[in-house]
Order: sequence, then structure tokens, then C-alpha cells
Amino acid sequence: MKILITGGAGFMGSTFIKYILKNHPDWQIVNLDKLTYAGNPENLKEVENCQNYEFVKGDIANRGDVEKAIGDGVDKIINYAAETHVDRSILEPDAFIKTDVFGTFTLLEAMRQHNVAQYIQISTDEVYGSIQNGLFTEASPFEPNSPYAASKASGDLLCRAYFKTYNLPIIVTHSCNFYGPNQYPEKLIPLFVTNLLEDKKVPVYGKGNQSREWIFTNDHCRAIELLAEKGQPGEVYNIGTGWCKENMEVTRFILAELGFGEEKIEFVKDRPGHDLRYALNSQKLKNLGWAHSLSWEEGMRRTISWYKENEDRWKKIKSGEYLEYYKRQYAERS
Ligand code: NAD
Ligand code: DAU
Repeated sequence: MKILITGGAGFMGSTFIKYILKNHPDWQIVNLDKLTYAGNPENLKEVENCQNYEFVKGDIANRGDVEKAIGDGVDKIINYAAETHVDRSILEPDAFIKTDVFGTFTLLEAMRQHNVAQYIQISTDEVYGSIQNGLFTEASPFEPNSPYAASKASGDLLCRAYFKTYNLPIIVTHSCNFYGPNQYPEKLIPLFVTNLLEDKKVPVYGKGNQSREWIFTNDHCRAIELLAEKGQPGEVYNIGTGWCKENMEVTRFILAELGFGEEKIEFVKDRPGHDLRYALNSQKLKNLGWAHSLSWEEGMRRTISWYKENEDRWKKIKSGEYLEYYKRQYAERS
């Protein structure tokens, strides 16, 4: 089995590649990644010399790069590649349209030319927008509220159209928020943990009463592995755990684990268009046999430990381009 994984140098893509190489040593992996600010070859150091792993530097929105990665053919394509950070999409949406919309389109066009047995689109619960009460099902309408969410929704709609029109074997997943070791330190959990390890404050947007559902990396890998085996073409699958937490609860947990009090919280101006609550009904995935494997707290402790033990990894990242981005973000919002 040969699989093209796109965006495999990012947080979740690299975690999935390492998971697959460990659990399916007979699978061949080709990783196509543009190496944007979020892509880091260090994430794959432990597997870079594996016989059944190949890295191709390239853009999913460039047909030549996609053809090079497909080579003589692949059995499956799993598309993790995307611009992923909501705040960046508010500052500079262009790259989101190019990668998340045109990049998805380019991969789907390549699918039309090659005999690929399965395509899995890694997408997000944000396409549904915000829900005050209850849960989003796979049939909930798309109501994206950020340029990021709209770009992912557009990619997902193209997937639907390519299944309906060309009968291509495409699956779309809508997952809740990932957390775990090695996430780029711009997202809530790694930003707050690393800020506290540097004895800085943590910037809570608005009142911190927004709620997100969380899934630990390994459990997301197991969900995609299951869908690669049992997922049905043309179907959409929500991927969630039911662990819905308000941002203040997440913040207080991190503060307590690292031995700090609420004096470390700085309430800052809210994110424009900020979604209040995401929550998924994931029964369809559970019906295939998936269940999460550890508690939210255990996942949080493992995550926090990783940042404590790997300062060399994230300290390098929290400089340069990263700091420039933060200066721009706060200048825009003040
Ligand atoms: P990430 O930002 O950590 O990594 C994205 C990767 O994609 C990077 O390696 C980057 O170099 C690569 N990339 C970006 N543009 C590219 C392009 N044009 N061509 C090739 N490669 C490109 O991402 P992540 O947080 O691991 O998310 C992975 C996927 O999961 C994304 O599709 C995202 O929308 C989706 N998702 C993320 C979350 C989350 O909580 N992070 C939740 C649900 C769904
Ligand atoms: O729901 C899935 C989505 O989760 C993915 O599709 C996105 O790629 C991923 O980035 C994530 O989006 P969120 O906006 O939910 O994640 P983020 O970590 O940016 O923010 C989580 C919550 O914390 C959100 O309500 C905003 C808030 N927040 C975030 C940051 C970075 C803060 O209060 N302060 C911060 O500094």
C-alpha cells in the first residue's frame, strides 16, 4: 500500500506519519509538504531514513509538484496540508484560499487522472460555525465564520462535488481541536504552556467563555487509520471525544499543572468573529468501532510534559517570523 500524505511536516501530519510507520511497517509513505512556517522537517527526524518513507518538498496547489509526489501512482491520498491558524486567516487570508481551496482542487484534479482508491480530506468542525446548545451532526449546514473556516468549507464542498460528479472515492472528516506534543506554539494550549515556561502571561481572548472540544493526537491518528480501512466513499465523519471545555477551564488546568495562579492571566481584546462553541456528535465514527483511549487530563499532562522536556524544539520556533506575526496581530487589534 502506497499513501500520499500532504502536509506531513506539520503537527498532525507528522504525528500520523510516525504512527503509520510504527504500526504499518509494510505501508509506503510519500510526504508532500511546502514547508511553510508551520512545517518542520525536525518533526520527522526519527523516520527520515526509513526505507518506506519519502519526502517531496512542494505545494499542493502546484499540479507539477502533486504529479511528482504521486509518481507512478498511489493507493490513497490523505490531505492534511492547509493553512490552519484562525488568527492568521484574519490578518492575511490569501494563503488560506490558495492552499485550502485551490490546493484541494488541485489534488482532486490529480485524482481524476490517476486511479487512486481513496482520498481522505482532513477537515474541521469550524465549517459548521458556532452552536449555542446541542451537537453538530454530519448533516448540519455549513456556516463558517472566519476566512480559515470558509476556506476549509470550500475545500470540503469541492470534495462533495467530485464525489457526486465524478464518483471519486472521497471521504471528508470534520474533527474537533487537536492537542498533544509538538503543536506549533501559536495555538491555545502550546502557546499558554510555553508562555508560562518562559514566565510570561497568557493572553485569554475576551472573557475566555468560548468552548472547544478536544482530541489527543494519538486518538485522531487511530480515527484516520480506521477510516482508511472502513470509511465509506462519499461519506462525512465527525471526529470528537465529547470533551468540551471552556477556554478558562483549559487555562486554569495549565496554570495549576505548572504551579501558577490567575495573576498570570491577561484578558485581551477578543478575536473578531470569534465562535462561541463547537461540539460534535461523533456517533457515526463510533459505530465503526472507534473510541478515545485516554482521558483529557492524561492527554494534557503528556502534552505539558513534552513542552517541559523539549524546550530546544519550541524555543527556536518562538522567535523570528513567529514574533513578527505576534507584533502584527496585536498592532491590528489594539
Ligand atoms: P499545521 O499548521 O501544523 O501544519 C500544516 C502543514 O501543511 C505544514 O507542514 C505546512 O508546511 C503544510 N502546508 C501548508 N500549505 C501547504 C501547501 N500549499 N502545500 C503543501 N503543504 C502545505 O496543521 P495541523 O494543525 O496539524 O492541521 C492539519 C490538518 O488538520 C489541516 O488540514 C487542518 O485544517 C486540520 N484540522 C486541524 C485541527 C487542529 O486543531 N489543529 C483540527 C481539525 C482539523
Ligand atoms: O476546531 C478545530 C480547529 O481548532 C482547527 O480547524 C484549527 O486549525 C485550529 O487552529 C483550532 O482552531 P481554534 O481557533 O479553536 O484554536 P486556537 O488554539 O487558535 O484557539 C482555541 C480557543 O482559544 C479559541 O476560542 C481562541 C482562544 N485563544 C486562542 C489563542 C491562540 C485565546 O483565548 N488566546 C490565544 O492566545
